[in-house]
Amino acid sequence: MTGARSCHRLALLFVSLVWCGWCVAGEAAPPRLRLFVLGDCKCNDSSKTHRQDVADVVRAMYYRSKDDPPGLVINTGDLVDDVKDPRDWKRFSKQHAPLFQMATYLAVPGNHDKPRGTDCRSWFDKLFKFPESVKPAPEALPFCRAFVQSGAGFVLLDSEIFSKADSALPQKEIDWLSGALAALGEQHASPVMLFMHSPPFSLGTHYKGWDGKETTAFRNRMMELCRKHAVAAVFAGHEHYFGRAKLDMDGYTFQVVVTGGAGATLHTASVKVPDDLDAGQLFERNVGGHRVQFTVPRDLHHFLEVDIADKEMTVRVFEPDTGPPAGYYDEIVEERFTIPIPKAE
Ligand SMILES: [Fe+2]
Repeated sequence: MTGARSCHRLALLFVSLVWCGWCVAGEAAPPRLRLFVLGDCKCNDSSKTHRQDVADVVRAMYYRSKDDPPGLVINTGDLVDDVKDPRDWKRFSKQHAPLFQMATYLAVPGNHDKPRGTDCRSWFDKLFKFPESVKPAPEALPFCRAFVQSGAGFVLLDSEIFSKADSALPQKEIDWLSGALAALGEQHASPVMLFMHSPPFSLGTHYKGWDGKETTAFRNRMMELCRKHAVAAVFAGHEHYFGRAKLDMDGYTFQVVVTGGAGATLHTASVKVPDDLDAGQLFERNVGGHRVQFTVPRDLHHFLEVDIADKEMTVRVFEPDTGPPAGYYDEIVEERFTIPIPKAE
C-alpha cells in the first residue's frame, strides 16, 4: 500500500514537473504592452491601387488584433500624399477608422504632411487625441510629445525641423528632447523609444537625408542623448521599405527601425548592396563618420507589432496576405527580432 502511494505521488510529481516545464518553455509571460507601428500610408484619394494597398495593411492590423487590441498605435508619418487636399485627409481618416477605434492612435508628421510653408496642425489636432495625462506640446514644437504608458516611455519628434536647419527650431527641439528624456528617466520609464519620420540612418532614396553639416551635427547630438538616457530604439519611416540599422557607441547600441510600408509605393535600397546578400541580411557602411550595420531592406507592405516585456522588445514584421481565396485575409510574419532594453547610466 505504502509502495503504491509512493508511486502515485511520484507520478503526480512527474506530471506537475512536466506541466510546469511546458508552461515555462511554451508560454512566455504576456507582454507588458503591445504596440503597433506603421508608416508612409500616404493616403491618396485619387488612386484606387494605392487605396487598396492601404486597405490591405489596415485590414491585416484589424484582424491581427480584433480579439486583443494593442495599447497604442503610432504612425511614423506621411499620412497623406497631398497635405493641401482635404480629400486625402478624409481618405486617411476613413481608411484608418478601425485603428482609431481599437486603440489610442498617434502620429508624427512626415515631409508630405508638413512641407515648407504649409501647416497640417489643424488636421493633427482633429485626428490624434492624446490622453489627458500627457503634457501639452511646447508652443514652438507642436508635434513633440513625451509620455509614459504601461511603464514605457514614448517620445514623438518632428524630424522635419532637423531637415530644415535654418532657424533656431532644431536647437529648441534638441533642448526639448534632452529635458523630455531626463523627465522620463526620473519616472523610471523603460524602455524609452523615439518616433520620427526621417530615419537617422537608411539605405533608400533618402539615405542622404541627414548628410548636411547642421543636420549631421543634430543627429550626433540626438544619438548622444539616446546613449545617455538608454533609449532602446528609434522608429521611423520615410523610406518605403522595412529595414534596420544599428551602431555601437562604446557599449551602447543605437538602434533604428524603419517601417515605411503602410501603403505607399514600395522602394528598395538606393545605395549599392552586394549582389549576394538577400533581404534581411547584414552589411556595414560608413555614414557620417559612423560604422553602421544595416539590414538589406525588404520592399513589402507591412506593419510592426512590438511586444514590450521587461528585458526586451519583440518586433514582428507583418505583411498582409492578399492572395486567394477572395475575402480571406491572413498575415505573414516576414521577420521577427528582439531589441534588448538598455539600462540607464
Ligand atoms: Fe517621407
